[in-house]
Amino acid sequence: MKEISNDRTNQYTELIPQIESLVQPEADLVANLANISAALHQIFQWHWVGFYRAQGEQLILGPFQGPVACTRIDKGKGVCGDCFEKGETIIVDDVHQYPGHIACSPHSNSEIVIPVFDNDGKVTMVLDIDSTEFKDFSQVDDKYLTIIARLITNKLN
Ligand code: SME
Repeated sequence: MKEISNDRTNQYTELIPQIESLVQPEADLVANLANISAALHQIFQWHWVGFYRAQGEQLILGPFQGPVACTRIDKGKGVCGDCFEKGETIIVDDVHQYPGHIACSPHSNSEIVIPVFDNDGKVTMVLDIDSTEFKDFSQVDDKYLTIIARLITNKLN
């Protein structure tokens, strides 16, 4: 990863082409999810960045960067399970106030979860990011992480 500026919008606009160039030539999904997690974690230094992949009515832990996490989340449970069920981004300013939040780490204080759709419009995985800061995520993160999610969709058959 090249050096990247401080402002979050600038960080994303510099990072996204780098992620694109990592993902574009590689056909393997797991390899791409691993590098996307690593790139986001490296640049933003978030506590936990990773993917949960949909299998039936559950999400199963995929490639991630950060501490050990719970492996299976039911649809409709916690922030990830709600994102899976609703198919929309969820931003949580204070996870301790979120009903049903699944506390994988005591250091997480805010969270954003982005759905990743397959080409039929079904949620096929979610991108989950946890921060030690309260209120760390905004519409800016939603906008750019959704662009990253679309890069993944475009690579799916
Ligand atoms: N906090 C999530 C669970 C996953 S871990 O944070 C990695 C949730 O409530 O969905």
